Order: sequence, then structure tokens, then C-alpha cells
Amino acid sequence: MAHYRRLGEVPPKRHTQHRDPEGRLYYEELMGEEGFSSDSSLLYHRGVPSAIVASEVWELPDQTRTPNHPLKPRHLKLHSLFPPGEEGEQRLSRNQDAVTDRRLVLGNSDVRISYVVAGADPSPYYRNAIGDECVYVESGAGVVETVFGVVPYRTGDYVLIPRATTHRWVPAQESTQPSRLYAVEANSHVAPPRRYLSRYGQLLEHAPYCERDLHGPDEPFLVDGEDVEVLVKHRTSAGIVGTRMTYATHPFDVVGWDGCLYPYTFNIEDFMPITGKVHQPPPVHQVFEGHNFVICNFLPRKVDYHPLAIPVPYYHSNVDSDEVMFYVGGDYEARKGSGIGIGSISLHPGGYAHGPQPSAIEASLGVEYFEESAVMVDTFAPLELGEAGLAAEDPAYAWSWAGRGPDDGNPAVFSNS
Ligand SMILES: [Fe+2]
Repeated sequence: MAHYRRLGEVPPKRHTQHRDPEGRLYYEELMGEEGFSSDSSLLYHRGVPSAIVASEVWELPDQTRTPNHPLKPRHLKLHSLFPPGEEGEQRLSRNQDAVTDRRLVLGNSDVRISYVVAGADPSPYYRNAIGDECVYVESGAGVVETVFGVVPYRTGDYVLIPRATTHRWVPAQESTQPSRLYAVEANSHVAPPRRYLSRYGQLLEHAPYCERDLHGPDEPFLVDGEDVEVLVKHRTSAGIVGTRMTYATHPFDVVGWDGCLYPYTFNIEDFMPITGKVHQPPPVHQVFEGHNFVICNFLPRKVDYHPLAIPVPYYHSNVDSDEVMFYVGGDYEARKGSGIGIGSISLHPGGYAHGPQPSAIEASLGVEYFEESAVMVDTFAPLELGEAGLAAEDPAYAWSWAGRGPDDGNPAVFSNS
């Protein structure tokens, strides 16, 4: 995040004395990426940011991953993972939180995708020491309290939280919807694609969004407290683990900070789709990139205007990538007849050509506008299925292009075909 921001009280010169009204020194912290050779911020704390009084194991939810073998396209119904109870979804999910109740859907050594439906209760204080998080808000509203300040979130937001940022999710009490969160956890940083940026980091005119669309915190956020627990997700040689650290004083004690490293949101409605006379390639839909993966979104838009154009995509073999589509709005034209609906994921792995369901091609001819929204993650390493991915699978999907599967030779039956 290469745009300078300054909030609260900071001294005129960095690394110089900065005192409170009683004359006590604030504690300066440099939070920087890539060995302090990339973006960073300077934070001024009231308390000592390293003062912990306890460190214990935090048992993470199931992180098991199962290879996609034998190779198949997959349809995962995420909404089935958190079904509404007798008293309705809001009531059932009240005590689920945005961090500890995440269920692992897909993952590899570069990125993990989890899903959670969080109720009204705040999450524990948390930070991810493995990489940046890019959390897509499928629905719901609230705020993310962070050491940099408070960032509001709403439906359609990507919430970008830099690695090691202490924060917690606080759903709005008045929200009529639970917070449905699609968490993309990187092992790296997540940022706008380099090709959207000038040599000095400004978003260029051809980019589908600009700095005005990125929303960081507006003021410092201070909380008093002692013995505050923070859950830390990190790595050992054994894999991804968790630790519960207890801080002597509240970590939200930053009176001011400045720099280019901080959390921010970007709403999917502020993405301006790039369209053309014939079908545009997937990279025009890109929003962010991480190491070995990209994030794109497909949004309501005018479609191809050549008189003989075929608006749905051609079959394509993305030979270096696994492709994950998360369908979040409208009616996805190319998947009509497949059983996919809102809340579905499709996984189209590398080594397998995919494209529209055959009936969708003719149906798209002459259509001028697609009313569809989907978030896509393409990874350069194969994705494996988490426990939630296995639990949410619709096994008929792999055979939906042929109309029959291996078991019965009969046409497959799909839920909305
Ligand atoms: Fe695709």
C-alpha cells in the first residue's frame, strides 16, 4: 500500500523524542515489510509494544488439506457450512466469530481460503503473522478495530489487513445480517497489481480503481486495559499453528502513526469493469495480487458489442493456475445449468480446460448486460481441499458439461438447471 497516511500525534522528525502532556515518552515502533526495504509505518505507543506476560498454545481449527486427486472440477456450497437453525441464521450464528470459527475451504503453500458466518459477538483480538489477509465481505456490516484505527466494513468490501496487524472484528449490533466473510489468507503481501501502478506507486489511469476508492482508518483508536489476550497465527516447521499471547497493557494504545502500511477497504462496487467489442481476457478483472496468486472480480457490466460476439467466455485452459470462483451476486451467465448459485465456489484446476455450460453459449447471444458478481482467486500452485471444502461439495458438478456421470449413465440432476 504505497500511499502515505498520517493520523494523530507524530513528532516533526522521526526517531526523535515524542512525549505525552505529562512528559512521558511514547514508545516508537517501526512496522515494516520485506526486511524494512519496502512499505512501513511508524507507530507511537503509550505502552511497551513488546510487553507480554503469558504465551500459550491456541489450538487452531482443522487445517487438514486433501489433494484434488483424482483431478476434478469442484462445486462447493459454502452456505451449507453454516446452515440456519430453527430460530434463523442470525440467532444461530450469534456466538460464532470472524476469526476462530473460520473453516478452511481450500489452501496451498501460498494462500488459504476460509469461510465463516459471524454473529453479533466481536472476535478475539487477533493478528496473522503468516501474511496479509484479504477478507471479502459477502454480506453484513461492522468495523474492524485495529492498532492503526477503526476501519468500517460493509457488504462488498475487501478488507485488507497487513501481516501482523493486531485487530478484531466487531459486527454491527444493528445489522440485520450476520457477517459472511470469505477470508483469503496469504503467506505474502496482498497489493494492487504492479501493472496498475506508476513507477512511484500511483494507480494509473487504465487501472479499474484509484486511490479515492481505498479507505483506511481516519483517527487513532485508544483503549485502556491490562492483561489483554491476542491470538497470533504463525508458522513452525510443523505447519500453521496458533499462540495466545497476553499483553501487559492494551495493544490499542497508538496515539499517532504515519507511513504507507495500514489496513484499508475497497468496495467491489467501486471497481469499474473494462469491457470490449469482443470478450476481454481475465486479467482485466484483476483487483489485487499476492505471491503466486491473484484476486479478480466479475461484476455487472455491459458485455461484448461486436454483432457476432459470444458474451460468455470461450473454453479456456489456464495451464499455470487453479481457478476459484466465489459467486456472490446476480446470476452467473456461464454457469447456468450447472447447479451453481449464490454462495457457491467453483474450483477449476490447472490441467483441465473449462468454460460455459453448453446451453449457456446460445443463451448469451445478443445479451447486452450481465448481472453477475463473483470473486476469483487464481493460484499458481495446486489447491487442496480443506475440511470445509470436502463438507460442502456437490459431487454432480464434475459431470455437468457432459450431462451424465460415471455411476449411472443418466443425466445428472442439478438443483437449478
Ligand atoms: Fe475460468
